[in-house]
Amino acid sequence: MNARAPFAAASSHTPQNSEELPGEARQGIPMVELENISVSFRSPDGKLVQAVRDVSLQIASGEIFGIIGRSGAGKSTLVRTLNLLARPEKGHVSINGQNLLSLGENELRHARREIGMVFQHFNLLSSRTVFENVAFPLELAGHDKAYIAREVGQLLDLVGLHEQAWRYPHQLSGGQKQRVGIARALASKPKVLLSDEATSALDPETTRNILDLLRRINRELGLTIVLITHEMQVVKQICDRIAVMDSGRIVESGKVIDVFRAPQTAITRTMIGEVIAHELPSSVLTRIQRRRLARGNTAGPECLLRLSFAGDDVDRPLLSEAVKRYGLDFNILHGQIDEIQGQAFASLTLLAHAGEEALQGAKEFLRNHDVSIEELNHVV
Ligand SMILES: Nc1ncnc2c1ncn2[C@@H]1O[C@H](COP(=O)(O)OP(=O)(O)OP(=O)(O)O)[C@@H](O)[C@H]1O
Ligand SMILES: [Mg+2]
Repeated sequence: MNARAPFAAASSHTPQNSEELPGEARQGIPMVELENISVSFRSPDGKLVQAVRDVSLQIASGEIFGIIGRSGAGKSTLVRTLNLLARPEKGHVSINGQNLLSLGENELRHARREIGMVFQHFNLLSSRTVFENVAFPLELAGHDKAYIAREVGQLLDLVGLHEQAWRYPHQLSGGQKQRVGIARALASKPKVLLSDEATSALDPETTRNILDLLRRINRELGLTIVLITHEMQVVKQICDRIAVMDSGRIVESGKVIDVFRAPQTAITRTMIGEVIAHELPSSVLTRIQRRRLARGNTAGPECLLRLSFAGDDVDRPLLSEAVKRYGLDFNILHGQIDEIQGQAFASLTLLAHAGEEALQGAKEFLRNHDVSIEELNHVV
């Protein structure tokens, strides 16, 4: 077979002009809707494991929605309910307004084509070339050779694997294998792409490249992406909104920037701490503790505060304004500025020296200017 043949008919991949636009969604209807989903398993020793507990969530068309949590939190099980690979014993699953639990076997098979999936370990067929792996779902769906050649050619262009079409999986790097996995998942023109730890087996630079690719696909094809990860770094790079799972439940959810600014739960704070270093050097904490003990175990005029602010607030002189207005003295113990979804995000840990009145005034002033403030006196 001529290695170039499949690409002869391939034009640039422009599915946004296609009639079968992947992200085509019914107006006003969430792309994904879960209502009161519970899933449990019977463990080998007969015990009941509640993997997902009463989860409800909505994901809009075109969103990149992250599900984050520790190992065993129930993330994979929850996401597998979206194509009914895991059947909830209770609740409601809708994709683009279609109630999956009401479908017969044939209809469900058809509905599943609209939900692509990529996996941590790629799950490629080792005896098939890159081209043949991507072609596989199209062959199963009964498409003719010319259609398959055209579609696969476009998909390989999209993921940047044009040159590797005739290689076998063992001849590819991890990042290239994942690009094949992504192209294969897109072959049936899904409306939703599920990604279960798709970058967990990759190094940081390859992870960034794959996440950039997913972002580009999301924008160019309007595809809704549900992305499972245990890394806040991944969430920070591409998600629009996230849900944090713990012990089968969603413990908090919201826009990424809002969750970073004001995490509501200890688990989220810990996970954010892994990317936005909040930890103070122990020698600094020890000195603060000593002074506190010398005062009879009271904080006195010293108050440890963490300020988080985002967007335009980052370059406004809010702190110096608070100093001038309220006579606040402080030292910066830790500071970091970062970017989340194109928005600047700053986190500052201050040791403030002030009387109660000045401190309250300054805190109120800052909060009124959208700075979120967390008191950290409990950590010393
Ligand atoms: N097929 C199964 N049979 C029995 N128990 C299961 C099964 N699948 C998942 N579980 C259990 O359900 C819970 C949630 O598992 P799940 O795989 O959804 O977690 P996860 O958040 O994806 O974890 P990880 O980050 O390690 O992939 C765990 O306690 C797990 O042991
Ligand atoms: Mg998992």
